[in-house]
Amino acid sequence: MKLFLDSAMIDEIEYALDAFDIDGITTNPRHVQVAGKPFMTTIREIAKLVEGTDKTVSVEVNPHLVTYQDMLAEGEKLAAISPNFVIKLQCIEPAFKVARHLAKKNIRSNITLVFSAAQALMAMKSGAYFVSPFIGWKETNGEDVLNFIDDVVAIRDNYGFATEIIVAAVRNGRQIVDSAVASADIVTAGLSVFQEAFEHPYTQDGIRRFTGFWDKSQYE
Ligand code: E4P
Repeated sequence: MKLFLDSAMIDEIEYALDAFDIDGITTNPRHVQVAGKPFMTTIREIAKLVEGTDKTVSVEVNPHLVTYQDMLAEGEKLAAISPNFVIKLQCIEPAFKVARHLAKKNIRSNITLVFSAAQALMAMKSGAYFVSPFIGWKETNGEDVLNFIDDVVAIRDNYGFATEIIVAAVRNGRQIVDSAVASADIVTAGLSVFQEAFEHPYTQDGIRRFTGFWDKSQYE
């Protein structure tokens, strides 16, 4: 299972590459705004961090662009910047046609803001390289997410779609595990989500206890 960092902060990405050897990066307009630099500067800096690797960077097309022509033109422009870029398209009707056309040109797309299995099905049928079902937002809205992930995975498996499923807006270790158990390909989450997921208070408690015993024992 692959783990992607959901961030546009250079220091966070460097940290996660070093500490966890994260497999890829996802960005969105909020992450770019938080990073504090112009969009183009930010994505070029991220591209440098993964240059020469097979790690993908999902970069989102300007959300104001909502026609097939505009989304395609912007997607092609972004894709030309780095071979690591995967073009993130918001899940609106023109995105399906854009994904098909990008795929014909060997440009990978990530259909994002997916909140239903029907949307995911259409993204997969359109040849999207990634599909990003958002679970955190649905859960906040009181909606089921376990069946949602299961449905998306079942659709992929039933029809042998090549699209990889990125479970997105993941908030905790439980959701990482739920995604892994459901056979999703990837989760994307913020750095603190991974750091907290890979720790446990009992591990720290055990270290405290064992150092106490260690200090009362002889080494040789
Ligand atoms: C995924 O690709 C999105 O960038 C991300 O998960 C959005 O959710 P969040 O910013 O609420 O975590």
